[in-house]
Amino acid sequence: MAGPLMRNITLLGATGSVGASALDIIARYPERYRVHAVTAQSNVDDLADIAVKFSADIAVIGNDDLERPLRDALNARGARTIARAGRHALIEVANTPNCDTVLAAIVGSAGLEPTLAAAESGKRLLLANKEAIVCAGALLMAAVQRGGGSLLPVDSEHNAIHQCLSGVRATERAGVRLVLTASGGPFLNRDDLDEVTPDQACAHPKWVMGRKISVDSATLMNKGLEVIEASWLFGIPADRIDIVIHPQSVIHSMVEFADGSVLAQMGSPDMRTPLAYALAWPERIASGAKRLDFAHAGPLTFEAPDRRRFRCLDYAYAALGRGGGASVVLNAANEIAVQAFLEQRLRFTEIAPTIEQVLESYDPPPPQSFDDVIEIDREARERAGDCVMEKIR
Ligand SMILES: NC(=O)c1ccc[n+]([C@@H]2O[C@H](COP(=O)([O-])OP(=O)(O)OC[C@H]3O[C@@H](n4cnc5c(N)ncnc54)[C@H](OP(=O)(O)O)[C@@H]3O)[C@@H](O)[C@H]2O)c1
Repeated sequence: MAGPLMRNITLLGATGSVGASALDIIARYPERYRVHAVTAQSNVDDLADIAVKFSADIAVIGNDDLERPLRDALNARGARTIARAGRHALIEVANTPNCDTVLAAIVGSAGLEPTLAAAESGKRLLLANKEAIVCAGALLMAAVQRGGGSLLPVDSEHNAIHQCLSGVRATERAGVRLVLTASGGPFLNRDDLDEVTPDQACAHPKWVMGRKISVDSATLMNKGLEVIEASWLFGIPADRIDIVIHPQSVIHSMVEFADGSVLAQMGSPDMRTPLAYALAWPERIASGAKRLDFAHAGPLTFEAPDRRRFRCLDYAYAALGRGGGASVVLNAANEIAVQAFLEQRLRFTEIAPTIEQVLESYDPPPPQSFDDVIEIDREARERAGDCVMEKIR
């Protein structure tokens, strides 16, 4: 009997938290997965270590100035991996015929271009980079269609919904309601948020993640971005996507059907589960995640999100309602505000007002092309930068 199909993978954002979880699974299945290329932005040493460990053909560093240090680091390790740098190299390793699967795990809208390239060239696209689909949902879904590949969500909520909808006919899908669960982040029950530090905001109670998404979880913007992501992925309008706070993070999301049945996907909060699902789909493989121990999981609780305290949720729903241009603005303003907070130039409580101010001042039409997205993103970042400066003064 033939063995499993060997997949050749490009990992965009290999040095990040999602990248590490994916590599952990890949290392368990050398007969299934081969690493073609790995990428990072500036973390030369970790990228070189990963390239050596997984015998990658190519390592790409996003920052052009770091090509030489990357080549030196690879040579020092006796690697046969080729060093490349910059935007074009990121696109090439995403759409090359030498890989069939691309993990999109770059953080922020910086990941959009290689993600689109992978979709356009018909890869199996494992999508973690939610900012890409928030900024260019229509363009990305059309590129997947044209390319003839597949899109498998890695975000645990969307992966859960993908699992719940598996085998459901299109006619039944049309009437579903999605319920995205949210842990509530580290500040679910804390009111005095004026003085919180980046480290406190990044100390997520359930998930270990990169710093940007950790802050997004603390403001609940992460859930707002996920509403937009879910709407594009599953073709469901905003008024049929709900959010419920579920601090235990055991249920990763749910789908409610016309007859009142609700399907939930559960598991330990470990990104290796959705990654294993996306890597092996439609098969199932062991992920290394701890089994869910129901006898010791404790009570599972649910509550409505406090949208007065966590304003970012309303901004995200409003942006989705306004159309594609507003989502790019929302995302760009959030990226700038979160970065300023992480650099301790902005208070935690100033993140939401910054986003609101930019959304109020700028309402572009839906982008028709990648260049439109880039232009809206640039303008919104500039405006957000000005808002941050005003607040610092
Ligand atoms: N972490 C999670 O559990 C989780 C769950 C669901 C969804 N996601 C989504 O997955 C994405 C990655 O999250 P993460 O937590 O893994 O982030 P992370 O730990 O910060 O890693 C980000 C990765 O992207 C690279 N990168 C950063 N800026 C870049 C740029 N301008 N150009 C090219 N590469 C760049 C980083 O390289 P360097 O190391 O060199 O900086 C790193 O490899 C995000 O969109 C996040 O929302 C994450």
